[in-house]
Amino acid sequence: MQLPYCEPYKIKMTEAIRTSTREERERWIREAHYNLFKLRADQVMIDLLTDSGTESMSDRQWGAMMTADESYAGAASYYRLKAVIEKIFGMPYFLPTHQGRAAENVIFSTLLKEGDIVPGNSHFDTTKGHIEFRRAVAIDCTIDAAADTQRELPFKGEMDLEKLEAVLKKYPKEKIPCVVLTITNNTAGGQPVSMRNIKGTAELCRRYGIPLLIDSARFAQNAYFIKTREEGYADKTIKEIVREIYSYADIMTMSAKKDGIVNMGGILGMRSEELFRKASQFNIMFEGYVTYGGMTGRDMEALAIGLDENTEFEQLDARIRQVKLLGDLLDEYGIPYQRPAGGHAIFLDAKKILPNLPKEQFIAQTLGIELYLEAGIRGVEIGSILADRDPVTHENRYPKLELLRLTIPSRIYTDNHIRVIAAACRNVFERRESITSGYRITFEHPILRHFTVELEKI
Ligand code: F0G
Repeated sequence: MQLPYCEPYKIKMTEAIRTSTREERERWIREAHYNLFKLRADQVMIDLLTDSGTESMSDRQWGAMMTADESYAGAASYYRLKAVIEKIFGMPYFLPTHQGRAAENVIFSTLLKEGDIVPGNSHFDTTKGHIEFRRAVAIDCTIDAAADTQRELPFKGEMDLEKLEAVLKKYPKEKIPCVVLTITNNTAGGQPVSMRNIKGTAELCRRYGIPLLIDSARFAQNAYFIKTREEGYADKTIKEIVREIYSYADIMTMSAKKDGIVNMGGILGMRSEELFRKASQFNIMFEGYVTYGGMTGRDMEALAIGLDENTEFEQLDARIRQVKLLGDLLDEYGIPYQRPAGGHAIFLDAKKILPNLPKEQFIAQTLGIELYLEAGIRGVEIGSILADRDPVTHENRYPKLELLRLTIPSRIYTDNHIRVIAAACRNVFERRESITSGYRITFEHPILRHFTVELEKI
């Protein structure tokens, strides 16, 4: 008999999960103004809010933290991380930052001015926030198929090269400081981008003389999908694929809290020495001296090992198979989600699950609250609350998709937890007809409102 597949690690430490009653959860979510971010973590049984900084480090990572160098300038830990970044991404210049949005802050402070245009494939909300905060405009050039949740495409997160070229043609080069390619495409459902599309995007950028910036939060998952889905890559290692991806990039920003498997950290990498010099000033102002930025020596040691470990096939295979298991169970129960299963999460299609709820009542948020009430499971809305208001008209923006993201942090939950999540989804799905009203906003910030928004029941 062929042995079944199993995780390439065993578990050395556990953390107790707290359970609760439905009555408690009703009270807690009301006190949290129906914003899942405002719940205390101990009011949550299975936390699928994010995979960001919530993943489980390895014994090697914990061990390396003990031997870190905490020198202010020129720490050995900085040089160890720098060497890993050069080896894995081939990026000669790098600045450490405390997380992904900090790298965005530094690079956009360096590159962007009012009125600029930044095309991309579904800019992540902090990326869009940093662009719009500078009164520049993020133009979404994602392929249309990404908005059809039932369509199965191997690379559903891609840049539409025709849309991109139309933008590059329309505006003068001076107005487009960079193109942002996000791998995997988080907002579209953790969907990957093929090497062909990465290369095609880079070629267009070269032709129009514009730098390509890769938002690299889930770069390793993207490389896994290239290996397992794209012709010509099956025999290449993840590290070889990553090296090729970054051979097309001029700049990289990375939230290291996802595929770097650390609790905190970010990377700003680049090829140009001149850009590095300019960006260094902003790094010193916002983050810290160039050799630590927003990170301690411990953080940099853990990240150096995390990047190395998580660019091995077995690690990624275990993580992505677990996400797929949740997708397979939802298929069994007929629950619609963004197909195929993404790399880090399943995105439930809230519009299809609650078709009679008006979009003004925040469909995906309503579904998220129901799932929390059902079983203490916390997901995150990727819908019209996250989309913020239009900066010019101040009208609510209603994106094509209303999704509830169930993010599976790497090496945290077991397949049994996955079965509980699927069963809870099924229970909510079965009583979907009884969910007839949603929520209205009572307080919001103008940018990135989903973190702090307050709601009331309609
Ligand atoms: N880019 C992408 C694609 C992201 O998913 C994130 C964060 C960032 C940039 C910003 O990085 O959080 O380290 O400042 N995404 C998290 C999430 C928050 O839950 O998807 P950060």
